[in-house]
Amino acid sequence: MNIDNIKKEFPIFDSKIQNNDLVYLDSANSSQKPLVVINRIYDFYTKEFSNVGRSVHYLSVAATNLYENTRSSVKTYINAKDKNEIVFTKGATEAINLVANTFGQKFLKKDDEVLLTELEHHSNYVPWHYLRKSKGIKIKFAEIDEHGDISLESVEKQITKKTKIIALTHLSNVTGAILPIKEIIELAHSKGIPVLVDGCQSAPHMKMDMQDLDCDFYAISCHKMYGPTGLGVLYAKKKWLEDLPPYQGGGGMISDVKKNDITYGELPNKFEAGTMATAQVIAFDESIKFLNRVGVDNLIEHENDLLQYGEEILRKNNSVKLIGNPKKKGAVLSFTIDGIHPHDIATILDEDGVAIRAGHHCCQILHDKLGLTASARASLGIYNTKDDLDKLNESINNCKKIFSR
Ligand SMILES: Cc1ncc(COP(=O)(O)O)c(C=O)c1O
Repeated sequence: MNIDNIKKEFPIFDSKIQNNDLVYLDSANSSQKPLVVINRIYDFYTKEFSNVGRSVHYLSVAATNLYENTRSSVKTYINAKDKNEIVFTKGATEAINLVANTFGQKFLKKDDEVLLTELEHHSNYVPWHYLRKSKGIKIKFAEIDEHGDISLESVEKQITKKTKIIALTHLSNVTGAILPIKEIIELAHSKGIPVLVDGCQSAPHMKMDMQDLDCDFYAISCHKMYGPTGLGVLYAKKKWLEDLPPYQGGGGMISDVKKNDITYGELPNKFEAGTMATAQVIAFDESIKFLNRVGVDNLIEHENDLLQYGEEILRKNNSVKLIGNPKKKGAVLSFTIDGIHPHDIATILDEDGVAIRAGHHCCQILHDKLGLTASARASLGIYNTKDDLDKLNESINNCKKIFSR
């Protein structure tokens, strides 16, 4: 696999950013977009635009076919059983809100327990907190170990007879921990508990197989998968989509509307109310083609190689403290430097053209647990190279020099 050629597919790297070549180490936040995806949006609006699923004219039927074609591509990419198990949302956040809201409405009552982990992104905590406020449910947290890992045992310890759903990340956006998700799902199912997986950080970096995982729900963020913003995917087993009430009401999700009653549309329309992010969905097909062209095995090999190299050089760098040392780790390097605030690190790195993220990364519970208010995070994508990591290290050294003056 030739990374230089892959990188050339991303036009952002052709420009100087503040007079520097861009070293983009913020893909866990959002990935850059290949030209094929950008062009697909342009072509759709300039030559093919129409709303989907409503009119019978040529453009509308063609757009509907393209839209549904992406649904089939997602189905194949994540190995779902049925294309109607794929629901488009505006992001992973909306996918999780959809499940919390509809599952909560139908299945949760006062004192029922929802089990999360201390690693969760706010997107997989706040929607459950609403249910705590509105219905009086309880939220429990499986605790991280000293490596920033969540073990099967730490999940098992928190399960009680009142646990009604487990909702947890596949890959932590802070420690990079890859959770033993298949084992957790097996355990949960053996006790009759459904599992929602926040797959935002795993989907861009790992092989996806819904049938093998056997999860009930899986939330995906398309803008982290070299796709457009404003788009996410909720995978849900058909039985759940049939059983759960609709999330939002409006056009497109109904079957029959009368003054005294309404019946809802077939799957997955029941969960796609109103005009959807049509151009984004259609362009996301190009992201999937791009990922298939790269090949998930090549992607994993390349990113593991980079991760190992990044960890090696940062561990050798005095006063850089890497956060977490999980058994299995994905493409994230979070760190602190004694005496320098992460926002200062990110600002100084930015002056060198190195784009990282600083803050709590929407994981305040985890940062509280680690005794931190913030951390710096370098995260990897397919276009990164060892050179990028060398530049990260050089820029960190520059930052330390500035603060030692
Ligand atoms: C682990 C995790 N969950 C959820 C989200 C939210 O995803 P989206 O931006 O698609 O709503 C993110 C995004 O940063 C994330 O990293």
